[in-house]
Amino acid sequence: MGTSTSRTRTTIASAWCFASVLAGCGAPAVVPADYERTYQEVRDCRRSGDHDLNFIRVLTDPAAFEAYQQRDRAFPLNAVVMKVEYADQDCTDVAGFTAMKKLETGAATEGGDWQWQKLDGRRRVLEDGQPPGCVGCHRPCQGGTQGHDWTCTEP
Ligand code: HEC
Repeated sequence: MGTSTSRTRTTIASAWCFASVLAGCGAPAVVPADYERTYQEVRDCRRSGDHDLNFIRVLTDPAAFEAYQQRDRAFPLNAVVMKVEYADQDCTDVAGFTAMKKLETGAATEGGDWQWQKLDGRRRVLEDGQPPGCVGCHRPCQGGTQGHDWTCTEP
């Protein structure tokens, strides 16, 4: 029974990948499976000021935490900031994720030297790299009152 279940899963995954060749299918997910245990919440459950879904939380990995909270320094290499999107106002029903991972300085200056990723509710990568939508919308959030190092959520 275990075998047939995993065979079914593999078939579904490759069918999905085939349909999504355009979008960065195959890129490893920036968001780890155990994010609730290893990441910290930096912005609690709230209505989104943007994106398609209504309710969000923002979490960071340990490397990103200080820069996200203090907003007085750039994010270090490999720091991850992610937004969990929910279908309900209590933030229990996960609908998907967006994530940003800091690259080396100069690696992708057009997108703030971040890797941008959109994932579905099961952490499958739907978009990856420098999608123009992510980059264009986050560009005003580089500093000042608008945001910090391309992050947009108000404290
Ligand atoms: C239409 C504008 C818009 C687009 C497109 C957009 N974002 Fe955002 N993003 C925002 C805003 C505004 C916030 C602040 C939180 C909120 O209100 O949802 C945010 C928050 C985030 C956060 C939480 C960290 C922070 O404070 O900024 C991440 C991570 C993120 N976006 C990643 C992405 C990725 C990846 C994409 C592309 C797949 C993307 N965004 C596309 C506007 C946008």
